[in-house]
Amino acid sequence: MTTKKTKLKKIKKAVFPAAGFGTRFLPATKAIPKEMLPLVDKPLIQYVIEEAADAGIEEIIIVTGMGKTAIEDHFDISFELESLLKEKGKKLLLKQIREISDRVTFAYTRQKQPLGLGHAVAITRNLVSNEPFAVLLGDDIIDAKVPAIKQMEKLYNKVNATVIAVQKVPKNQTHLYGVIQGVKIGPGTYRVTDLVEKPKSNPPSNLAIIGRYILTPGIFDAFEVTKKGKGGELQLTDALRTLLKTEEIYACEFEGDRYDAGDKLGFLKANISYGLKHSDISKDLKKFLKGLKL
Ligand code: UTP
Repeated sequence: MTTKKTKLKKIKKAVFPAAGFGTRFLPATKAIPKEMLPLVDKPLIQYVIEEAADAGIEEIIIVTGMGKTAIEDHFDISFELESLLKEKGKKLLLKQIREISDRVTFAYTRQKQPLGLGHAVAITRNLVSNEPFAVLLGDDIIDAKVPAIKQMEKLYNKVNATVIAVQKVPKNQTHLYGVIQGVKIGPGTYRVTDLVEKPKSNPPSNLAIIGRYILTPGIFDAFEVTKKGKGGELQLTDALRTLLKTEEIYACEFEGDRYDAGDKLGFLKANISYGLKHSDISKDLKKFLKGLKL
């Protein structure tokens, strides 16, 4: 393989694809984007944007679709609300609703039809331009001491190539994920040799791709020549497979607890776990859970 390596560039931009229909969470997601469902007291997507900001990312590019205006409103300044909070002397709340909008900049682009995760990333080409960038899925919540995307950046800084997040899952669940085949090159790090989207049988490993990626701009050319895959959608995993023909790809088994909050059970688990750590409610929640006659 001939791998084109360029000068190592810092990751400054992150793409958040948020144009999916969220069918696993219907009817809750009919009029409310799933990314806006609350994890205790903040929308899911805010946790993931905070993860990106904690890793030094400066520009957030959100791919929205039908019925997703609540996301834009949430990260916008609400003068009415802010003046009401000021009037009432609610300084802490004022700080909380303002903080994230002050840490990063936001740009939005619209995916007119949900033609797949790959398609959602492909349409950000002009906003990302010719530099490596991160992709984070707003419903994959990762509770980690070091932000997952920062753990991946550490590997990216070593290999100067695409890095994807992976996690070991039980073999009977591999059909729900993109799965990698790889050669272990260090603790929790792999050089990817192949990738398969939602394998029906014979998964190449139990290392499932999770919603965090650091991609080189080469992925945009890969999208152009990748055919539609599972569900008639342009899959990111398939485009990564195309990219693998010309560039190296690495995988990072991150440390931390991951919740698939786009799924009912995963969402509830995340709420309980974050609730048990939340200073306002942890004591009473623990008492409530202990009192449940299960
Ligand atoms: P999912 O596979 O979770 O699909 O997409 P979904 O539509 O959001 O939810 P379900 O499975 O029907 O319940 C993974 C990520 O890719 C985005 C989604 O918003 C989600 O963050 N996505 C998916 C797009 O932005 N556009 C698409 O066309 C498809």
